Amino acid sequence: MHKIENLENKIKIKMEEIGYIVDSCLLNPSNRPDLGDYQYNGAMSLAKIYHDSPINIATKIKDSIKDFPELKEVSVATPGFINIKLSDEFLIDFANESLNDITSNYNLGINKTIFLDYGGPNVAKVLHVGHLRSANIGQALNNLCKVVGAKTISDIHLGDWGRPMGMVILEIKTRYPDLAYFKDNYNGDDVDFNLTNEDLLELYPTATTKAKENESIMEEARKINLELQNKHKGYYALWQKIVKVSVDEIKKIYQDLNVDFDLWEGESDNYLYMDELFEYLYERNIIVKSDGAEVINVEKETDKKEIPPLILVKSNGAVSYEATDLAAIWERVHKFNLDEIWYVVDKRQELHFTQVFRAAQKSNIVKENTELIFNGFGTMNGPDGKPFKTRDGGVMPLRDLLDNVTKVCEERLMENITENRSDIAKTIAVAAIKYADLLPNRTTDYNFDIEKFTDLNGKTGTYLLYSCVRMNSLLKKAAEQQNTFKNIKTLSTENERKILISMLDLKRIIKRSFENRSLNEICEYLYKITNIYNNFYAENKVLTEENESIKTSWLALTKLVFDNNKYLLNILGINIPEKM
Ligand code: ARG
Repeated sequence: MHKIENLENKIKIKMEEIGYIVDSCLLNPSNRPDLGDYQYNGAMSLAKIYHDSPINIATKIKDSIKDFPELKEVSVATPGFINIKLSDEFLIDFANESLNDITSNYNLGINKTIFLDYGGPNVAKVLHVGHLRSANIGQALNNLCKVVGAKTISDIHLGDWGRPMGMVILEIKTRYPDLAYFKDNYNGDDVDFNLTNEDLLELYPTATTKAKENESIMEEARKINLELQNKHKGYYALWQKIVKVSVDEIKKIYQDLNVDFDLWEGESDNYLYMDELFEYLYERNIIVKSDGAEVINVEKETDKKEIPPLILVKSNGAVSYEATDLAAIWERVHKFNLDEIWYVVDKRQELHFTQVFRAAQKSNIVKENTELIFNGFGTMNGPDGKPFKTRDGGVMPLRDLLDNVTKVCEERLMENITENRSDIAKTIAVAAIKYADLLPNRTTDYNFDIEKFTDLNGKTGTYLLYSCVRMNSLLKKAAEQQNTFKNIKTLSTENERKILISMLDLKRIIKRSFENRSLNEICEYLYKITNIYNNFYAENKVLTEENESIKTSWLALTKLVFDNNKYLLNILGINIPEKM
């Protein structure tokens, strides 16, 4: 059990001995650090139950626990707060246990299988800044789920199916009508057709604009799409090529962002389950016809605002985005035994998921105990607070964003680096972007500000990296000078205590982050602990300290903060460079 929980239990038992029965004795980090490290506020509610004054009760509890070796000092403050200062031995024990096994502050024993749907890029279309947060937050939540003990399955959920595919294929067909794909006798062989991602980035907008402006082109694209869905040999082979070219590029960008998936499935894979799904829904009379469309009613009496019916098949016969997501759930719960499915998608899609989840529950596609959870996120806006655009008003490709930030990092932060410059710059840029992205609460919008995000002296990824690199080089130097630092032996300054007291709270921060499915508290914690460490570092000359026991302890503390920061940054998807 975690040290604080242990202490809480011990106090609870003591309280029972003196006549106060409580479910738990929650120790909170103190908001008056001058009075104590932790406080217990339970005396106020006990007063009502036991018809005594809070101050009397608090004093009795204090007297019963004051000799605990875990505690340096216990005091009571009006109207009945109990303030606790932890003993050095307690803090040192905690520090050494953590040094020995960092994961003890993370494993919550969550024994669940969680499926995560994030990323969600669209094939043939440029991967733009609107896709950044899903990748960052989704990957960080995936990492977080793992460290708290859960099993995860992640799926990129590619947008690789639907009418736009028909449009792109039609545009290719118009330009290169002689390609073997379009011949009646096409036999499925590889076709010598060189298609690049750059081609697609031009083809897609051209094709969609043409179709939107010209009804007969739109009609033709629809027809092609339908044939594609029926696995027309040529169209299908061309579509596979488009997907491959596009996904190869998507993979490179995600790799740069430390984002990866167990499954690289797309809407096309879910589509394979569509017939099965419809058969199931028809059998149970879940589908209703409405104005030529096929819908599922999902409103509930308790609804405060109107939840419109989920449209499965539109009146023009097209299968909807909602249907694909329902088929995705169908596929997932049939293939895996899942406790929860998490979606990390723009919060503007909330209604879509409300409808899909209700339809899945209403039709018993998911078991009652499988939870479907929508984790909506806010928008990344430009510095002006409006949706992020390029200078000429277009959408900003994610690759350009990454390149721009990398360039700024290289110019601003790397005077002293000669080797590996571009790799290091990229690592720093990813840290700057990710930290800024994960720092606001998941649902909050924020403004992209390259100057601010790469500032070495701010609440930034670059500040954290710089501090960690410095800790790491201190440790390396110490090792070269034959110092050993396995354990903390003594605490000699106030900042050391502050670091450990902060760290004691980490397990709860991890728990709340997991429950809220947001990384903001972890980001705040990293900043806080790094700040305290830097104050400690500024005040003390670690390597030249003459008292061996103090020096060893300082180095061990540095190692603890470094290891732990590294572990947390890893959850966020951020790596620490060797040099900076
Ligand atoms: N491709 C979609 C889009 O760009 C996002 C997919 C989100 N995930 C899902 N299961 N619908 O809007």
